[in-house]
Amino acid sequence: MSYPDRTDPNCGVALEPTEDVRSSPATEATFGEVAAARMGRRGFLKGAMGTTAYAALAIAPASLLAACGDDETDKVASDPAANAAQDIKASTYQPGSLARFPEISHGVSKDHVVAPGYEADILIRWGDPVTADAPAFVPGKADPDAQEKQFGYNNDFLGFVPLNEAGTRGLLCVNHEFTSRSVMFPYDLRFNSPKELAETEMAAHGGTIIEIAQQSDGRWVTVQDSTYNRRITARSTAMDISGPAAGHPRMQTSADPAGTRVIGTLNNCAGGITPYNSYLMAEENFHFYFRGKLDDSDRLWRTAGDLEAACAAGDATHPEARNYCRYGVAMGGGYDWGRHVDRFDINKEPNEANRFGWVVEVDPLDPTSTPVKRTALGRFKHEGAESITNRDGRLVIYMGDDQRFDYLYRFVTDGTVNETDRAANFGLLDTGVLSVAKFSEDGTVTWMPLVHGTGPLTAENGFDSQADVMIETRRAADLLGATPMDRPEDVEPNPKTGKVYVALTNNSKRGPAQRDAVHDRAPNYWGLIVEMTPPDGDHAADSFSWDILVKGGDPSVPVTGAQFAEGTSANGWFACPDNLAVDPSGRLWVTTDQGGGWAQISGSADGVWCVGTEGEDRGISAMFYRVPAGAEMCGPCFTPTGDTLFVAVQHPGTDGALAFDEHARASDFEDPMTRWPDFNEATPPRPSVVAIRKEGGGPIG
Ligand code: FEO
Ligand code: CA
Ligand code: CA
Repeated sequence: MSYPDRTDPNCGVALEPTEDVRSSPATEATFGEVAAARMGRRGFLKGAMGTTAYAALAIAPASLLAACGDDETDKVASDPAANAAQDIKASTYQPGSLARFPEISHGVSKDHVVAPGYEADILIRWGDPVTADAPAFVPGKADPDAQEKQFGYNNDFLGFVPLNEAGTRGLLCVNHEFTSRSVMFPYDLRFNSPKELAETEMAAHGGTIIEIAQQSDGRWVTVQDSTYNRRITARSTAMDISGPAAGHPRMQTSADPAGTRVIGTLNNCAGGITPYNSYLMAEENFHFYFRGKLDDSDRLWRTAGDLEAACAAGDATHPEARNYCRYGVAMGGGYDWGRHVDRFDINKEPNEANRFGWVVEVDPLDPTSTPVKRTALGRFKHEGAESITNRDGRLVIYMGDDQRFDYLYRFVTDGTVNETDRAANFGLLDTGVLSVAKFSEDGTVTWMPLVHGTGPLTAENGFDSQADVMIETRRAADLLGATPMDRPEDVEPNPKTGKVYVALTNNSKRGPAQRDAVHDRAPNYWGLIVEMTPPDGDHAADSFSWDILVKGGDPSVPVTGAQFAEGTSANGWFACPDNLAVDPSGRLWVTTDQGGGWAQISGSADGVWCVGTEGEDRGISAMFYRVPAGAEMCGPCFTPTGDTLFVAVQHPGTDGALAFDEHARASDFEDPMTRWPDFNEATPPRPSVVAIRKEGGGPIG
């Protein structure tokens, strides 16, 4: 994700300020150091080089960290006519058994762009009705009760649960990760920040479950009177807490003395649909919603640096200081909900932040069911939770902790998936083993279990129980010597090949001394995709092998160190891979998140690419779809037939406004850089789900 508004109502969107802080104290060889040796042995066809002279690169590192304004270095040409002409030039991507479509070009424009021969329809937008009694969307108004019934903001993960065999009816499960105040609301509301604004933002977070149906002309529509439709919000949805941390004193609050029930879910980024069709919502940057101080000073904390300084100086006196320092809780500059709602103030409610940072399991087929936070899967900045049934029937869930220098995790259930009694699977995620990954230069990945009483995970180190290990998962993983990675985001098992793909988005803070075999670029502005192979398809094995699939960046600029296979066109390369999806025929699709630095990182908007993984297609990439200006690409999700690809366009009109030539000034509600998808002067840009189909039907690609 790129990040939402700061306390300054005029400020644009900051580029991942939370990931700017290194909170992992790890001294292990980083994944980059280990990968360097591996990549040195592998023959890549383009752009292969060592990682030395980044100082020579025509990119000012500071300019990649767009805060209230974007650096204008390396602006991309964004003349609409030029864009239209180049959008459909076509090096048609036809790599054997893999995808076949005419590629689109890199670029940036006010509208989205899809490959020729495909249709991209808007399925649902922020503010559209979800429940049957939802009122109509009114632009510019903060109305929490209306928002509770309408589609939330910043759609991220998309999951499809079919309701019929043909897959023409189903439930779309959608995460709403965060809110972008600057383009959502007019200046008076933003500046005065009344309680109803905070409450509306809380109601715009969470998730949506909505029935959708494919019409005879192939188009998808929402079914507005469906009894399945529901909103899950940060404001009002009661959730159970289960697993090792449930009921622990550190989970107890004044509103919930038992420590087993919490209101809401926060920052639901990616997620997963399990083989028994439950919907997993990953809570990512939960820390940003809490305010207060960890020390005894009178100083108002405004920045991540304030938190870092207090933590480093040992000045933090809050009862959860060690834990909150590691997660960046109350780092300053985040949401102001704690001004209006006591539980988001860590000095008024010291344990509330321990009740976020989990994976939430929802039964989308029972609209009255209570979502459950499954604490056995650990507490960190969960990006996603994609799963696969292992050959022995146990469920295996892969998860990334999306922060610079944080870790890759795997959870293996004790029990097995019950294929005949669906209800018996709810509870499967409460018992099992969570492990963290260590990558070695010899090409192996070792999974290290996070089990209380083993190794350093004892009372001596502050872990009195498995509950403590789960509440402070990051610190437990630090002690085990996990490999610090470059923002592990989506982790996608491919059921056709048994391999697992890890998107590592970027890490501008990795220094030359922190290079390792996997992350051999320092800094790593462009990200990479790592492939893991379990032995004999056993996803529960203690050790896997690993390799690199592609390294992001422009392969024609050798200093980037980018690596894509021969056959990748000038538009086929990408930077900052984030979400991944595997289509029904086993092909890998990648979406990107460059944040506010898109102009400097690639010069192109984010989008969707198809990447070959096998045989002669391996490492070849081709561009399929591009988001409108200022947006991020999330949620790739195929229907079971593969003839529809749903994608989530997140925060249109926010990132990198100064670098977008058609706008070249700050972007806000009054003057946004795009009004996609409505292009109506009365309506701000609206995050939306897009349904992409081939003209005339048939599988995508
Ligand atoms: Fe929400 Fe890591 O992207
Ligand atoms: Ca993401
Ligand atoms: Ca995914």
